[in-house]
Amino acid sequence: MSAPRAALITGSASGIGAAVVRRLAGEGFRVVVNSVTSVGAGRALVDELGGDVAHYVQADIAVLADAQRLVAETVERFGQLDVLVNNAGTTQRIPHDDLEAATPDVFRHLFDVNVVGAWQTTVAAMPHLKATGAGSVVNVSSLAGVRATGSSIPYAVSKAALNHLTRLLANVVGPEVRVNAVAPGLVDTPWTADWDDIRTLVTAMAPAQRSGQPDDIAEVVLSLVRSAYVTGEVWVVDGGMHLR
Ligand SMILES: NC(=O)c1ccc[n+]([C@@H]2O[C@H](COP(=O)([O-])OP(=O)(O)OC[C@H]3O[C@@H](n4cnc5c(N)ncnc54)[C@H](OP(=O)(O)O)[C@@H]3O)[C@@H](O)[C@H]2O)c1
Repeated sequence: MSAPRAALITGSASGIGAAVVRRLAGEGFRVVVNSVTSVGAGRALVDELGGDVAHYVQADIAVLADAQRLVAETVERFGQLDVLVNNAGTTQRIPHDDLEAATPDVFRHLFDVNVVGAWQTTVAAMPHLKATGAGSVVNVSSLAGVRATGSSIPYAVSKAALNHLTRLLANVVGPEVRVNAVAPGLVDTPWTADWDDIRTLVTAMAPAQRSGQPDDIAEVVLSLVRSAYVTGEVWVVDGGMHLR
């Protein structure tokens, strides 16, 4: 019998990442949970799933040595790496017309996590993903990377970069590895807990007439992991908000 497949989900102590962890664990994957500061929440999720199924690693994906250690610990713990979900991300809410507030430092910080972090984690993971012969990377991007919207211009630009990174990587790592992205609209997570203004807008405008739930996104991540003939795609999951 072959060993259970292993998945690394970055930024998975809460929100979308935690939902992906639970969903993949439910499908029989061994899962690695990761966060930077929410160590207690990450360990609690591992306790919930059981130590045979889940393992926690504290690591900041924006730090190269941390990203490399995160991947190394995953392979050490579960013997292989089949799926990488680059979910860890960060933002700052800045009105788009406040150009002065979107400083170069804000750009650098958001790019360090949302783009460089995803890149260096993927590079570290690639030899292991290739070794499986059917590896899959899913990047958690945003509607903000597809449409002129989002919590700030630096955030939206970083997610647009992540979308193009998805296509560029998919172009060179097949056939052993597929690379796709999911681009959520507003999802109810700790990140958006006080975004009631946007939630009201989405509920009023989107065809689905509600904000997204973490499970809505986990469902699509799992679909992309399963879809052996899909690569280089960015899948918008926003209840149809992009139509408005
Ligand atoms: N919620 C939405 O409406 C929405 C919409 C579109 C896209 N997204 C994307 O979805 C992803 C998950 O967000 P969420 O809404 O689920 O938020 P969340 O519940 O706040 O989760 C974010 C996770 O990322 C981790 N993280 C942040 N920076 C990290 C780093 N440098 N290294 C490792 N982990 C890091 C956080 O860990 P700590 O708690 O330890 O900091 C946390 O576990 C993000 O990429 C975000 O851009 C969210």
